[in-house]
Amino acid sequence: MDSSPHDHGDDGADSAPPAAYRSEVTLSVNGKPHTLLIDHRRVLLDLLREDLDLTGAKKGCDHGQCGACTVLVDGRRVNSCLQLAVSLDGCDVLTVEGLTEGDQLHPLQRAFLDRDAFQCGYCTPGQICSAVGVLAEAAAGHPSHATGPATPPGRPVPLDAAEIRERLSGNLCRCGAYPHIVEAVQDVAL
Ligand code: FES
Ligand code: FES
Repeated sequence: MDSSPHDHGDDGADSAPPAAYRSEVTLSVNGKPHTLLIDHRRVLLDLLREDLDLTGAKKGCDHGQCGACTVLVDGRRVNSCLQLAVSLDGCDVLTVEGLTEGDQLHPLQRAFLDRDAFQCGYCTPGQICSAVGVLAEAAAGHPSHATGPATPPGRPVPLDAAEIRERLSGNLCRCGAYPHIVEAVQDVAL
């Protein structure tokens, strides 16, 4: 663990907010603990990209509308551009950088490569993190708008193309790589 809190979220010493507007927070990012003194206005996306040099999560809209900034907090998908970092004391954050095991890509990362499921790649980290959440949610039996009434409640939900499209509908791709994205997620879900 970092031995002393670091002052993050400031544009420089002169612009540092008063101490009353900063709080010390301890959180884990990709398994590594950090203790940080965080400006209450700092969002998780900026903390990751600008303070921790984890630039996998992307800033698309900065308004919770595109999903490019998706990461997992305690296993659940969040738009990190809307998540105040100061609210994450004690939380586990997982970003796209944390999905690999050494040199081993996560199966979803491999599937995106195999299916050529991107063009510019800007949305891809968010798509992949979101898909990690989709797999977990479906395995835990969480229904979606596309889940049929015959699906037994509380049982794992099979992920057909309609389920994947619905569950990833918060992740936009301006390149229109959707067909291959759905195929990649389906490869791992099978
Ligand atoms: S950058 Fe967060 S949803 Fe678009
Ligand atoms: S691959 Fe370009 S935005 Fe999705």
